[in-house]
Amino acid sequence: MEVSSNWGVLSFSFLAIPVAAFLFKILTRGPHKYPPGPKPWPIIGNLNLIDSNLPHQSLHKLSQKHGPIMQLKYGSVPVVIAASAEMAKQFLKTHDHVFATRPQNTAGKYSGRNHSGFLWAPHGPQWRQWRKICLSELFTLKRLECYEYIRVEEMRAFMSSLFASSGKPIVVESKLYCFSISIILRVMLGKKYFSDYSKHNTTTSTAATTIQLEEFRGMLVDFLKLNGAFTIGDWIPWLKFLDLQGYVKQMKALQKKFDKFLILCLRNTRQIWNPKPRDMVGLLLELMNDSSLDIKLTYESVKGFIQDLLVAGTETNSSALEWAMSELMKHPHFIEKATEELDKVIGRDRWVEEKDIPQLHYIEAIVKETLRKHPAAALIPPHAALEDCNVGGEVLEGRSRMVEIDLKGKSFELIPFGSGRRICPGYGLALKVVTCGLANMLHGFNWSLPYNMKPHDINMEEDKGLTTPRKVPLVAVLEPRLPIHLYHQNHYQKLD
Ligand code: HEM
Repeated sequence: MEVSSNWGVLSFSFLAIPVAAFLFKILTRGPHKYPPGPKPWPIIGNLNLIDSNLPHQSLHKLSQKHGPIMQLKYGSVPVVIAASAEMAKQFLKTHDHVFATRPQNTAGKYSGRNHSGFLWAPHGPQWRQWRKICLSELFTLKRLECYEYIRVEEMRAFMSSLFASSGKPIVVESKLYCFSISIILRVMLGKKYFSDYSKHNTTTSTAATTIQLEEFRGMLVDFLKLNGAFTIGDWIPWLKFLDLQGYVKQMKALQKKFDKFLILCLRNTRQIWNPKPRDMVGLLLELMNDSSLDIKLTYESVKGFIQDLLVAGTETNSSALEWAMSELMKHPHFIEKATEELDKVIGRDRWVEEKDIPQLHYIEAIVKETLRKHPAAALIPPHAALEDCNVGGEVLEGRSRMVEIDLKGKSFELIPFGSGRRICPGYGLALKVVTCGLANMLHGFNWSLPYNMKPHDINMEEDKGLTTPRKVPLVAVLEPRLPIHLYHQNHYQKLD
């Protein structure tokens, strides 16, 4: 897939610094040389240069002027921008240990349960324990295999739902979202908590729990918007108490909604013990009684952890799939090549399975290019430096925040899941869902545009939020291309 020349979407990570009590200078010898950057104004610093809706695009433009490493001031806080693969490597590999924490910001306090969840946890024992639980329990290869039946069932349900809507214009994202959230909810919580694709407003029949899909989606979208927002109090601390944008109020209200849902889920899991394979919540509840853990898991921190995984694992996957499909519909000759590959490798008498992925080189390339061009987390949670540090001959103050963009180096040119200590723990799951999902969307259907639209009419603008969603949802008309009986095959049958 080609990269449009005016493309301004960049992959980058905010790396922020808690104002450390033990500020330690690595570099005290020689004169300090700070990275170049625009001259800051009093009070606001360089905030006047940043579009608060799409800050990564403003940063990209500024980096073209000031070079691969530059320093800005967001209010009174120094922010360092790394705008080349080499610089990204310096931050995320060479100095990863320095930039592995998160800032003590408003989002972490009011959305991240005072930093006790995962996403906003500072680098320390609590975060290390979450990572360990992820790597040794939740996202191991064995566990991913265990949950394959869920992904297969949800894929079939997704295909059936697309089939049911074939021949008429559909808003692709609502189907994708349903697919993505169904997988995450079943893997995390053992069940979906809503009924099916066609009835988005339906609630579960379980007495213990009720959820409206649209309401839940609203919660996740609000979380991402608020957590990706520019909160003035974080950058101009003496204005914090005024909550000028009303974000604190909104975060508190949102937290209450999440609480209601999570308490119901935890109660439900306790009552209905899910035997095999155990869902993640069951496992976490068991770990709460494990006295051998370094840090005792509390009810509050478990809620925070589940909330963060639900948020991080849903919109990212569906947004990647929607961007991939939008790019393909804008460049239909790529669809031709992809379906050629699918016909050759898979044939027309079955669906694509995860075991086929290594042979689908073209589809894999499309996924990679989509994640490069539209990183699901263009504005990922800030990292923070714990101490002063010398990067590429420039001194970065111990309280600098780091942003990394436009990665075009060798090993660091494509890091949609981040890199180093804070790399996305869910990338194995994400790649399976996105690659197999895209393959089946192309394998199962011919895609066309409605209302006499032409490929160049597809709007490729981004909206604000932590996961860089599309501004205008993709609408398409689908026609089945496989034998009809395959679209009614909803249940998992053991794979060979
Ligand atoms: C296409 C899909 C996805 C993309 C592009 C993506 C990307 C990212 C990125 C860039 C980060 C930040 C890394 C950093 O701070 O340096 C991240 C963090 C994270 N992701 Fe993902 N992610 C995806 C799917 C998922 C899934 C499916 C899950 C789990 C179910 C997940 C869970 C997390 C968590 C918990 C973190 C925070 C890790 C930490 O702070 O240590 N992500 N992801």
